[in-house]
Amino acid sequence: MNQKLTMVSLGPGDVELLTLKALNAFKECDAICVPTKSQDNSFTKSISYKIVSNALKLLHVTKPIIPVYSPMHFIYEDWVHEADIILETLQKYEKICFVTLGDAAIYSSIYYLLDIIKKKNKKIYESCEVIPGVTSFSAASAEVQKALCLGDEELTIKPINPRGKVKTTEILMRPKIGMDTEVLGEGDFYTFENMYLEDAKITSSKIAKVKKYMTLFINFARR
Ligand SMILES: C[S@@+](CC[C@H](N)C(=O)[O-])C[C@H]1O[C@@H](n2cnc3c(N)ncnc32)[C@H](O)[C@@H]1O
Repeated sequence: MNQKLTMVSLGPGDVELLTLKALNAFKECDAICVPTKSQDNSFTKSISYKIVSNALKLLHVTKPIIPVYSPMHFIYEDWVHEADIILETLQKYEKICFVTLGDAAIYSSIYYLLDIIKKKNKKIYESCEVIPGVTSFSAASAEVQKALCLGDEELTIKPINPRGKVKTTEILMRPKIGMDTEVLGEGDFYTFENMYLEDAKITSSKIAKVKKYMTLFINFARR
């Protein structure tokens, strides 16, 4: 079996804020794993289930929906259990999606799950795809028509109830062509140039000199 796991970001709640990539992933998969906070595996309170159901209606298809009990207690064993359900589902269905609200990059459990999946089944981990989505705060900004950052402003995203020492990921945008990147400091840098264009390039470090305006840097929190 050519097993394939796709982590699909669902956006903030409106099915119209799903990406085409997300819809295509639903169209192509054999089953969809949907997290639920209900211990009885029901979806009565699940926003994710509502979005997935609406998406399947839009596509005029039905797919098996597999509940993944996700109590959100931030306990490692719970993530192991969730990862096990995903891996078990992949024994039964060749292509599956696992869904997450908003965008997968923002406070989503998918990267805890992927770390566990990497240890348990490297092949599935390596073929996994993550589909980005609209964040809750991008949608919130649009709802009230107020920019999150303009001109020289910065944007901060903070956990309201941190469990420990707060680490920071920095996203650095709008560079000057020709600039030396030494001023950006050191860290776990990635450079993204002309993403999704013909000459797109992702470098797992900080490039020394900026060649294109469409360049952004991420200095990831050390984990
Ligand atoms: C675990 S985080 C997930 C964030 C999500 N991945 C994103 O990209 O926005 C959950 C928090 O996101 C915010 N959030 C997510 N969806 C929201 C919505 N539809 N309305 C308001 N806040 C939302 C709330 O602060 C909530 O406590």
